Amino acid sequence: MAKRDFLKLSDLTVEELSALFHRTKVLKEARTERRVIQTLLGRTLVMIFEKSSTRTRLSFEAAMAQLGGHAINLPITESQLGRGESLADTARVVSGYADAIMFRTFADERIAELAKHATVPVINGLTDGGHPVQLLADLFTMLEHFPKLEGLKVAFVGDGASNMGESWVEASQLFKFDLRIAAPEGYRPKAKAKILEPKAAVEGCDVVTTDVWTSMGQEKEKEARLKAFAGYIVDPALMSRAAPHAIVLHCLPAHRGEEIAHEVLEGPQSVVWAEAENRMHVQKALLERLILDATPALPKRVG
Ligand code: CP
Ligand code: NVA
Repeated sequence: MAKRDFLKLSDLTVEELSALFHRTKVLKEARTERRVIQTLLGRTLVMIFEKSSTRTRLSFEAAMAQLGGHAINLPITESQLGRGESLADTARVVSGYADAIMFRTFADERIAELAKHATVPVINGLTDGGHPVQLLADLFTMLEHFPKLEGLKVAFVGDGASNMGESWVEASQLFKFDLRIAAPEGYRPKAKAKILEPKAAVEGCDVVTTDVWTSMGQEKEKEARLKAFAGYIVDPALMSRAAPHAIVLHCLPAHRGEEIAHEVLEGPQSVVWAEAENRMHVQKALLERLILDATPALPKRVG
């Protein structure tokens, strides 16, 4: 069987994603009861990071270890990639060692290039254009609070052009929930989306979410962004417009007082800590799906 990559949410069908959420529940219960499941015994994940990370690195590493496998971390600055070796050559070499590769990088073209030359599954650990493994955790967390995703009212307030904003739009199209984006002009998703003012977007919502105003790699734009996003904070006043049962999600790291108020992040509607933990559970299901369903072929020649 040909290898499957997970570069965007829609690389798996809705049925496959639903099955993955069912498996996540089983894996989470097992972990909570400290029952050991070792489906990836002897398997190796190589993680290549071109940007910082806490959750992605640790949740993938813990996931592999707990499933009986192993993860190797390769920060790009300590690798030959950082000295000019091509992604194509790296992909072929790493495919000989690993059962899957997780890559966190900038432009989506970079992960597409790695995936093209890798003969093992490649997982998007965040690019400028999306953060699909985070959305897996977010959708699973929503399913812990609501019976189904279809028809839910979800507000994304903040940088709609961020990787999170783009992935939320993709998720809403796949799972048919009513996504409202509140983002200033110039910071809206590329894909077609419902754009509203923050108060109107949050009105009656089941889920309220946001992302940092300045993503990794945009640090030079910080001052301009602080100005552009004034009025887009998820604070108690904005939350008072959501449904009383609404939950608050945030992929973290959070900037308290910028995109989200401390009182909201720490308040009773916040499920951000469960959401962060769910990264590991859902990625276990993803790793099983991609590694056990793929039969890696020998590395291909380039040129
Ligand atoms: N949410 C997320 O991807 O966190 P890290 O940047 O810490 O990996
Ligand atoms: N949009 C943020 C997400 C961090 C997990 C960034 O890219 O920095």
